[in-house]
Amino acid sequence: MTQTVGKDEIEKQRSFVYKIKQLNSNYSARTGAKHLALTETYGCQQNENDTERIRGILSECGYGFTDDPYKADVIVYNTCAVRENAEQKVFGRLGILKHIKESRPNMTICLCGCMVQQEHITEKIKSKYRHVDVVFGTHALWRFPELLYQSLSGKKEVVDIEDCDGYIAEGMPVMRSSADKAWVSIMYGCNNFCSYCIVPYVRGRERSRKSENILNEIKDLAAHGVTEITLLGQNVNSYGRDLDENIDFSDLLKMVNDIDGIKRIHFVTSHPKDFGDKLIETMASCDKVCHQLHLPFQAGSDRVLADMNRRYTKAEYLDKTARLKKRIPDIALSTDVIVGFPTETNEDFKETLDVLRKVEFDNIFSFIYSRREGTPAAKLDFALSEDEIHQNFNELLEVQNEISLKKNKAYEGKTVEILVDGPSKTDKNMMSGRMENTKIVNFPGSEELTGKYIKVKITEAHTWSLNGELAHGEENV
Ligand code: SAH
Ligand code: SF4
Ligand code: F3S
Repeated sequence: MTQTVGKDEIEKQRSFVYKIKQLNSNYSARTGAKHLALTETYGCQQNENDTERIRGILSECGYGFTDDPYKADVIVYNTCAVRENAEQKVFGRLGILKHIKESRPNMTICLCGCMVQQEHITEKIKSKYRHVDVVFGTHALWRFPELLYQSLSGKKEVVDIEDCDGYIAEGMPVMRSSADKAWVSIMYGCNNFCSYCIVPYVRGRERSRKSENILNEIKDLAAHGVTEITLLGQNVNSYGRDLDENIDFSDLLKMVNDIDGIKRIHFVTSHPKDFGDKLIETMASCDKVCHQLHLPFQAGSDRVLADMNRRYTKAEYLDKTARLKKRIPDIALSTDVIVGFPTETNEDFKETLDVLRKVEFDNIFSFIYSRREGTPAAKLDFALSEDEIHQNFNELLEVQNEISLKKNKAYEGKTVEILVDGPSKTDKNMMSGRMENTKIVNFPGSEELTGKYIKVKITEAHTWSLNGELAHGEENV
């Protein structure tokens, strides 16, 4: 059963925040310096959003922030379990931290998130990574102040990986990573149990936040200057099914669309089985809902889709995307694809390529299947060798790169509006922003444009991004 964390519990956590703050201000009074915290996030936007809560707590506890592990007094790694490489990265980092901690034994190392919600991982950490001080799973996030305080007070091996359906905790502090854009979780957990996926096991059952709490959060963000929001959930299309309110995702979207100050609304992730005409109509009629949709199809073969427990067919997927494109012709589509699901043959894989060619996604996120302990697919034998899977993966990228470039080329010469993010990550001399359909545009300009909506003329298309220049006389619209 879904449990909402009571106000008294949140208050109790606030009292631990206060106690840590006392410790930190005593330290500052003594030394004139501030204790510093470092956070690092692996995984999806849900995790990014959770890290913003962790940083909110740390900030209220009186910590400053650093990116340098040699300077950090508290380190929090918020982990992901979706594929093996995400876990390997964390183990690699923990190896490095072991050396750092030898020279700085007072530092507190915390590990949280999806990866440690798995018992076999927590056991491994307890036995082989003994320099980790605090381990807490996704369901214990709101208890972080208490767990950190226990560790700071000298308790060894603080572990909280309660196995449950999950909570909803309202009213926790949050420190946003951007002043202009914000993620807003509308629901947590997943009930879909796709046969390859660990998420339902580590994130608990689907539970929706009350619309009032979501809307108040967004109104508050808008009042503080945020103009772009992304509604988050593993399957936003099932929003509201577990609530007493009579509301679905389309209804919520309309309410968010009515909030003054918000200019762009995105949402992830939609599940094809639950995506339908009502939402297409809502997307078309709500002026702030961006013309962009992330709709993972995972595989093109009906047999593989059935083995994946996805509950739609290739034809249904193609039909839904065709209807969407007809109603919203400038829609930009993205998707997730898994290559090398155990039962996938080369024939099956051709069906995946066929979906790419028919739908013409603007971009895709492609993954080689990774075996996840405890999921049904983990028991299956592989139809293809590792080499064959890698060949297919490369072919998939080639086919998609051509499509992405073609779609981007269509923007050459056009003037588009972008929200400026800041200096480009790939070219320090350029600024970078995003169109409403999330396409990245790099352009020469000053840093002062950060957070502004400006018009740029697209000069050159690349596979992953566009180049542009400020449209003459039209900046700062
Ligand atoms: N709830 C979202 C996202 C889940 S995780 C959804 O349903 O689409 C993001 C992506 O990771 C998935 O869409 C899938 O493509 C990929 N993924 C999940 N488990 C995986 C696994 N075991 N191996 C490889 N990719 C996986
Ligand atoms: Fe995983 Fe499927 Fe749930 Fe997405 S819908 S999180 S892929 S189980
Ligand atoms: Fe990873 Fe957890 Fe997200 S497993 S993808 S961080 S829900």
